[in-house]
Amino acid sequence: MEFTTSTGPIQDSRSGCLIVGIYDGKKLTPAAQQINDAGDGIIKAALKGGDLSGAVGQTLMLTAPQGLACDRLLLVGCGKEKELKDRSYRQIVQAAARAVLATRTKDALCALAELPVPERELDWKVRQFIEAAGHAAYRFDQLKSDKKDDDKPALRKVSFPYSSRGEGALIKLGIVQGRAINDGIDLTKDLSNLPGNICTPSYLADQARSLSRQHKSIKTTILDEKQMEKLGMGALLSVSRGSRQPAKLIVMEYDGQGGASAAGGRKPGAAKGTSAKNRQKPIVLVGKGLTFDAGGISLKPAAAMDEMKYDMCGGASVFGTIKAIAEMELPINVVGVVPSSENLPDGDANKPGDIVTTMSGQTVEILNTDAEGRLILCDALTYSKKFEPSLVIDIATLTGACIVALGNHAAGLLANDDELAAKLLEAGQKSGDRAWQLPLWEEYDEQLKSPFADMANIGGKGAGTITAASFLARYTKEYKWAHLDIAGTAWLSNSEKGATGRPVPLLTQFLIDKAKGN
Ligand code: BES
Ligand code: MN
Ligand code: ZN
Repeated sequence: MEFTTSTGPIQDSRSGCLIVGIYDGKKLTPAAQQINDAGDGIIKAALKGGDLSGAVGQTLMLTAPQGLACDRLLLVGCGKEKELKDRSYRQIVQAAARAVLATRTKDALCALAELPVPERELDWKVRQFIEAAGHAAYRFDQLKSDKKDDDKPALRKVSFPYSSRGEGALIKLGIVQGRAINDGIDLTKDLSNLPGNICTPSYLADQARSLSRQHKSIKTTILDEKQMEKLGMGALLSVSRGSRQPAKLIVMEYDGQGGASAAGGRKPGAAKGTSAKNRQKPIVLVGKGLTFDAGGISLKPAAAMDEMKYDMCGGASVFGTIKAIAEMELPINVVGVVPSSENLPDGDANKPGDIVTTMSGQTVEILNTDAEGRLILCDALTYSKKFEPSLVIDIATLTGACIVALGNHAAGLLANDDELAAKLLEAGQKSGDRAWQLPLWEEYDEQLKSPFADMANIGGKGAGTITAASFLARYTKEYKWAHLDIAGTAWLSNSEKGATGRPVPLLTQFLIDKAKGN
């Protein structure tokens, strides 16, 4: 899908679908007023029927509107003008995007960015529409043999009208960001929705290689089990031992500084290289890439076990975020680290009571083999030190307890640095991909005591999300670190079953802010 700006009076548009807002009580927005005047009272006449009052998210599609050059006119309820806020604006653009995509129109002109949302600029509003359109247009049909053309979205192009140069620039910024975020979200959803028999650790490694072929700014390195063995990654490898698929440690280095390598090299054609000593320390994103989690010997119940193909959503969100920032060419350095393995029961699998030595040297008593995420993450977190990170964020479908605590509305956030936590919370607010912070008090850490090893891999009854993070905190003491538990937000189970692409919007917003120096 393509997104552009458009000048000229909207009433003259020959678009396949013109989208305008109607406030509560059938009050016309400025764009609606303009269309109404040009079209001889067409909107007021349509509203007389009572099919649309202007409540948030209502839609009314008028086809072949008399007196106008467009093929369709979509009216979208916007609620009370004074009550507009982030959430209602998102509901408005989601309803609009769904209604447009339910038709066979190929192009649309969206005038909804004129709505006044407190503290939000045009770029934000444009981005919200683009993301909504991306979600509405997303299909995962690569594994269906009969791909019906009618199911494919027809919409090819959306334009956003503007009247001043300043407006045009903001809209263009929103388009660049929105398009990149959508591409990142789509990649994350695709990888996440793929089943475990296709999306294996080796498959993910291939996808990382293909990402670096698409973007010169991304360098991919894959560590195999032998190399992990040498590094002493005893926890990660213990999980992988229960599976026939070899584990991979996937590293994707995004260089946003025009090729300033550690050696001070420069990418040909880059305007400005940065010498090694000016090189910014990277932000490291570590994503859990468990391509199928059966629980291991502590086997999970059969019901809904298929959903454990989603246990690599954290890793997939690292892929998507790196893709998005590479497309935006953000001037920062980011390293993605994705430890990837399966967790299956096998004669050689971890057994409850087994004790393994992690790359950090600390030992772990594995009391429950289903708490495997932290075992693969702890070694990846120790490994991440080598990048001398400015900060590290890990993203993981780590605990069922997080779904109990926060449902599918917010990711769990835990951090050893309050400023970092605050910035992530803010990025969540702005992107609408929210997180909620939980405490990392010593009392929780004490739940991990083991009589036989330095720690157990589970914290017993209560606070499962926090004790899991407390475990990880023991491996992240040397840098600023935050953990996002996305067990509840990364996919939906019921009627809309599938991956959500979260937290790509949150992470990209955080990185956009970072690139601005915040
Ligand atoms: N991948 C699961 C967490 C999970 C469960 C995510 C359900 C989404 C939906 C993780 O590996 C796991 O099994 N965690 C255990 C930890 C427990 C054994 C301490 C859990 O949450 O039950
Ligand atoms: Mn598990
Ligand atoms: Zn898991």
